[in-house]
Amino acid sequence: MSKCNDDFFDAKKDWSRVKDALLGSYLPVYFAKVIHTKKPIVYIDCFAGAGKFKSGEDGSPRIALAERKSAIEHCRSFAILPKIDMYFIDPVYDKELAANISDYPHDDGHGSIKVIKGTYETTVPEILSNIGDANVFLYVDPFGIRNLANRIFANACKNFQGNVELLLNLNSFGFIREACRVTGTLYKGEKIELEEREESIIDKSANAERVLSAIAGGEYWRKIIEDYHRDSQPSPKPSLVAERNFSACYRKTLSKSGGGPFKYVLDIPIKTKPGSYPKYRMVYATNHPDGCIAMADNMIRRADELYTEIQSGGQMSFFEVDANQEMKPDAAILTPLVRECLSRQISSLQNSVANFPGIHCSNPSKIPVKIRLRDMVADFFCENGVICATKDIHAILASLENKGEIVVSRIPNITKTGKPSKFWVEDKDKTIYIHLKESSQ
Ligand SMILES: C[S@@+](CC[C@H](N)C(=O)[O-])C[C@H]1O[C@@H](n2cnc3c(N)ncnc32)[C@H](O)[C@@H]1O
Repeated sequence: MSKCNDDFFDAKKDWSRVKDALLGSYLPVYFAKVIHTKKPIVYIDCFAGAGKFKSGEDGSPRIALAERKSAIEHCRSFAILPKIDMYFIDPVYDKELAANISDYPHDDGHGSIKVIKGTYETTVPEILSNIGDANVFLYVDPFGIRNLANRIFANACKNFQGNVELLLNLNSFGFIREACRVTGTLYKGEKIELEEREESIIDKSANAERVLSAIAGGEYWRKIIEDYHRDSQPSPKPSLVAERNFSACYRKTLSKSGGGPFKYVLDIPIKTKPGSYPKYRMVYATNHPDGCIAMADNMIRRADELYTEIQSGGQMSFFEVDANQEMKPDAAILTPLVRECLSRQISSLQNSVANFPGIHCSNPSKIPVKIRLRDMVADFFCENGVICATKDIHAILASLENKGEIVVSRIPNITKTGKPSKFWVEDKDKTIYIHLKESSQ
C-alpha cells in the first residue's frame, strides 16, 4: 500500500474483510433489537470512504445500507418500524460515495440517506444535537490514529440523551509506534505496515505529546511507553505487552468505570499471523447487555474465520480459538472465572442493598439477591475479555446448577406442555435469574 493510502480503495485487504464481517454480521442483530424500541434509529458512518472499492467490493456504507434494506423488508409490521436515517461523512470521497450509493433513494419513506462532505469532529456532534431520544450507531473507521480524538466520541455520547453504540477501528500499534517516535524511545518491534496517511503522522513538535494524550483520552500512555523502554525481554514481547496495555487503558477511557459513557466495552485484535502484532483492534462499546453478548459471539465467530482463512492459509485449526485468536480456555479454566464473576456481582448487589437508606444490615452477604443472567454474561466478557462464547458460560452455569452450587430461576418456569423449563437463552418472553444456594449466602 502506498504510504499516503491513495490506493486504499483499489482493492480490499484481507484484514479489512474481517472488520466488514464484524459490522455486517452485527447490524442485522442491532436493527432487529432496536426496531422494537420504536425510537428513531440513526446510523452514522463517521469515516465513510468511497462506498465501493475499484475491485467492485462493497465498502462500509454499502454494507450498512444493504443491512438497513433487509431489516426493513424483514420487519413484520411497518406499524412498529421507526425511521432509520443513515449519515455518511467523508471530507474527500463524498462525490465517489454519492455516486456509488446512488441505487439507494435519498428517502424511501423509512428514513433518509445522506452523504455529508465534512469531518466527523464537527458533523457528529451537530447530528446528535439535532436529534432527540434515538438509537444511534457510530461506525468509526479512520486510516490511522491522527484523527481519532477520544473526547469527541466520549463527549458526544455523554451529552446525548439517547442510546449510543460504537464500533471503532483502533490502530493501537500505530499509537505505540508514534508515542515512541515522539518521546524519543527506541521502538523495539518489527517494522509494520499500517493503514495510515503520511500526513496524518504526528509532528514531532512541542504539541505532539498533547495530540497523543487527546487521542488516548488521558496521560496513561506515558507510563506504558516508560515501561516499554525498561522492558528487557526479547522482541516481540515488549511491543506486544505495550500494545495490550494501551488497548486495555483505551477501553477503560470509554467505560463508566474509567469516567466514559459506556457500561460494556469489548475488543478483538485483528492479527494476520498467529502470535503477531494486531494490525488494529476493533473496539465495541454499548450500554446494553444484549448488544454486548451479541457482539462477543460475533467476535468469536470472526476470530475463527480470521484464524482459518488468513492466519493459517485456509487450514482448519486443531483447537477452538477465542477472540484473541488464541486457544479457547477449557472448562477447568473457565469455571473459577465464572464463579468469581458471579460472586463479585452478587456481593456488589448485596452491598448496594445494604447501603440503601433505611436498611440496617450488619452482614450484607446474608441478603438474598438474584442477578439477571444476561447482565452476568455481559459483565463476564468485559472483565475477562471475549475468551469464550456465551454458550460456554451457559454450560459452566448448567454444571454449577447440577452440582447445586447455584439456583437458576426461569420465567416462565414451566413449558407449554407443563414440564420444568430448561432454557438458557433469554429473549423478550424468557428471563433467567441466578442466585446462590441459601446456605452459601
Ligand atoms: C479507512 S477509510 C474508510 C473506509 C470505509 N470505512 C470502508 O470500509 O469502505 C478512512 C476514510 O476517512 C476519511 N477521513 C479522513 N479524515 C476524516 C475526518 N476528519 N472525518 C471524517 N472522515 C475522514 C478519509 O477520506 C477516508 O475515506
